[in-house]
Amino acid sequence: MDRIKITGGQRLNGTIPISGAKNAALPLMIASLLTPDRLTLKNVPNLADVNLLARILRNHGVDSAVDGKRAGPSQYIGETFHLSARDIVDTVAPYEMVSRMRASFWVLGPLLARCGQARVSLPGGCAIGTRPVDLHLMALKEMGAEIDIEAGYVIAKAPGGLRGGRVVFPKVSVGATHNALLAAALARGETVLENAAREPEVGDVANCLVKMGAQIEGIGTSTLRIQGANRLEGAVHSVLPDRIETGTFAMAVAATGGDVTLEGARADLLKTALDTLRKTGVEVQETNSGIRIARNGAALEPVDVETQPFPGFPTDLQAQLMALMATAGGTSVIRETIFENRFMHVQELARLGADIRLHGDTATIKGVKGLTGAQVMATDLRASVSLVIAGLVADGETTINRVYHLDRGFEQLEQKLSRCGAQIERLTG
Ligand code: EPZ
Repeated sequence: MDRIKITGGQRLNGTIPISGAKNAALPLMIASLLTPDRLTLKNVPNLADVNLLARILRNHGVDSAVDGKRAGPSQYIGETFHLSARDIVDTVAPYEMVSRMRASFWVLGPLLARCGQARVSLPGGCAIGTRPVDLHLMALKEMGAEIDIEAGYVIAKAPGGLRGGRVVFPKVSVGATHNALLAAALARGETVLENAAREPEVGDVANCLVKMGAQIEGIGTSTLRIQGANRLEGAVHSVLPDRIETGTFAMAVAATGGDVTLEGARADLLKTALDTLRKTGVEVQETNSGIRIARNGAALEPVDVETQPFPGFPTDLQAQLMALMATAGGTSVIRETIFENRFMHVQELARLGADIRLHGDTATIKGVKGLTGAQVMATDLRASVSLVIAGLVADGETTINRVYHLDRGFEQLEQKLSRCGAQIERLTG
């Protein structure tokens, strides 16, 4: 198993290109199930999760081809995926696949809309929480699906096809919104999704569905009004930049000090996180090419933050902010309101010398003068990268085990950081 070794204490200076968003690329790839035509996705990040999803979709009959060499002056402009689901050959998504990647559960809506049936394994729990799928099922039922659960599988049927419906989500769910939106694009008539997730990745999927022939009003708001199409067509769509990768590198620069431009990043996708960084005393500047982050010597101010659905502070940046606040000049309070068990990084950050107390959903972080390198264990994607940030700040050597978590969601992490002066390397085997 690969490990990452970091020798901390270097400031970061230079440019980091931001990749396409993993959490948009995945549902966009799933959208290919909705049409017999070719869906071309540009700026797809080369990540373990993307490649695994391509394999999962292949089981359903989606042919995928990736353009050979990356073109252009930058090696980070992302890959171009061509996906064609001329015939759906299998409407079963087995446990072995769905349990490896939760987002593959989102094939349920599109398969049901296109084929009138689907059998998709329940994803099960995961390290950050129980993560039920009741809202996904509720939405599809509102659209006329008959749903049973048997032996760990969702058996869904809509013999005459799905029809439009009115879905009022009692709680904001990114995944349930994706599932319902994808299904509604091919359902008969109008579907209204209320209290829908407003995450930019949902908007990106909606924009792609419009290119494919669906009519959607309210993109970017919490009420989506979708007129389903009888048939959706192929399209060409470019994946929006990854706001979580952007926020992660911004916090890394804030933590180490230095001056880095996050190339291709869009400030409008993470306003709350950037405002939080400004409150810590870090310089955040929108430029023509992206976002510039700088901190030169000044101490970090502590901040109090609560995670919230978009446009609030994202849960996917909570661990990284905690790593940053570990060396702030005072006490910060971070409350996690989205997932009930998303604090696994706390124990590991403590191994590097962080002073963090947990009470239920709230972490109190007392800034310390410095961290010290140690061996730590990656537990999930975002927790792992918080350890990278802490390792970059810590004195001496930090080794992060179980690096495969990072490979699921960060493209060329070591290369991007080492180009800016970090001492970071992958130890293979
Ligand atoms: C998406 O997960 C993201 N995953 C997550 O990123 C992200 O943390 C999360 O949204 C919140 O922003 C992808 O986009 C692939 P939810 P998702 O449904 O859709 C509860 C990463 O690191 N809920 O918005 O699974 C749920 O338990 C990942 O890239 C129900 O109760 O999250 C949670 O408490 C991790 N019933 C809350 O809603 C349901 O049917 C929000 O979950 C569905 C969800």
